[in-house]
Amino acid sequence: MLDLPAPRPLPTNEPTLSYAPGTTERAALKAALARVGDERPDVPHVIGGAHVRDGAPREIRSPHRHARVLGVFHEGGGALAERAIDAALAAAPAWAETPFDERARIFTRAAELAAGPLRQTLNAATMLGQSKTAYQAEIDSACELVDFLRFNVAFATQLVAQPLSTALAHNAVELRPLEGFVLAVTPFNFTAIAGNLPSAPALMGNVVVWKPAETQSLAAYHLARLFEAAGVPPGVINVIYGDGPSVGDACARHPAFAGLHFTGSTRVFQSFFRVVGENISRYRTYPRLVGETGGKDFVLAHPSADVDEVAVALVRGAFEFQGQKCSAASRAYVPRSLWPRLRARLTELTGELVVGDVEDFRALMGAVIDERAYARLTSWQARMNTEPGVERVAGGSASREVGWFVEPTIYRVDDPGHAIFHEELFGPVLAVFVYDDARLDETLDLIDRTSPYALTGAVLSADRAFVATAARRLRNAAGNFYVNDKPTGAVVGQQPFGGARASGTNDKAGSALNLLRWVSPRTVKETWVPPREVAYPSMAER
Ligand code: SIN
Repeated sequence: MLDLPAPRPLPTNEPTLSYAPGTTERAALKAALARVGDERPDVPHVIGGAHVRDGAPREIRSPHRHARVLGVFHEGGGALAERAIDAALAAAPAWAETPFDERARIFTRAAELAAGPLRQTLNAATMLGQSKTAYQAEIDSACELVDFLRFNVAFATQLVAQPLSTALAHNAVELRPLEGFVLAVTPFNFTAIAGNLPSAPALMGNVVVWKPAETQSLAAYHLARLFEAAGVPPGVINVIYGDGPSVGDACARHPAFAGLHFTGSTRVFQSFFRVVGENISRYRTYPRLVGETGGKDFVLAHPSADVDEVAVALVRGAFEFQGQKCSAASRAYVPRSLWPRLRARLTELTGELVVGDVEDFRALMGAVIDERAYARLTSWQARMNTEPGVERVAGGSASREVGWFVEPTIYRVDDPGHAIFHEELFGPVLAVFVYDDARLDETLDLIDRTSPYALTGAVLSADRAFVATAARRLRNAAGNFYVNDKPTGAVVGQQPFGGARASGTNDKAGSALNLLRWVSPRTVKETWVPPREVAYPSMAER
């Protein structure tokens, strides 16, 4: 009677291919770059399985070559969102009735298509549209996407231990989808997240309206095709490109709005809480709000740390994918005793980085996502380059002729309360505070109280006792805490990802904890032999 899936073992993580010269994957990726770059699709909204091209066309351009048009999408808004909601709600009863094993088969097929025949298409779209290097695309749109899809199937079967049944009755807990639809709002920076946010609720039996970031439209288009190819039924995942506020508003004010799966800015996420608060009496069910937002992620070097290890953690952590990971290292705390050697090493390493077109495989960095990001980051550079109490250690300039290129930039800043230590810049800019070795203890408090965010953080130290102290004192400063590593690169099934405070609801993407938010459990008791008398033995006279 009930759909109670049997537990499945956890899969292993999808291996990361090397793309070294001479490998077959390198040749396949180069061919895909040429093909995907020339396709120039007219990207449709997907509503109830129909491809809809309503709304003004908008060009999709490559951040590292902004004259290059990669395709067009159509600017959708509230009216299309209403149609998508209707299509989702029409598909909901049949999808909720679809047995878990069948839903699991569909998303497993999506995983295997993404791992195999569509791998290089997704990688190429992510490189061209989001300016990721081959390695960054591989760990995102190949490995992490595949891991989300495969691991979620296994996690979903492990959510609830079935309750006790007795000789009198059988008991079961059934995981129902939410009553209504889920809105997935996805960011430009990870194709894997764009794939996970709609598919995780859908796997649990929910119907979804998905609004991808405009600047991720090309890879989102290939993800939508992946879901179609895998057999996701029409109406289960509906995709609307375009104007975020009007799509978001139409969804969040709808009585059937049952959940939000969000990655993006703190400001936008908070605005959903406001709209939900204003409309709380209109909903059929209390909407689940699950969001991952910003970060101001720290790296603390202990005086015992190895300078080369700290330098690599900072350069990779701060500058890979141009610092546009929510997890990117953006503030570092370095003891005075290590600073001269670390400073020299950081200057050397950043000087060697190739920043440029990601089709040149020597590049470690491409361009920032768009002109708006470029303007924000260059205005920070202009401010910091001339401000007293600030030493420019590396970078500090940018170039916009061909693409939106911002140099990997490091500032040493005297004032640990400076805005650069608490505002999220979302780009390749690292602020360093040099602390007196004798004030290490105060530095832990400083890290904890300086930023409103609490997403990731790292401590590098050869002193185990200090690592234990730092882990305790910084317990609430990061949802993902790294020891002797950079603060980026969480792997599904290994480091479930998310943070609290202003960084989000910490519902850990890539874990059973996240999937639990997309179900409404029902407990069912079946009594074998129902009583036929009202009176209890204790009520007898003697
Ligand atoms: C992110 O979600 O922005 C980054 C994940 C990671 O680097 O660990």
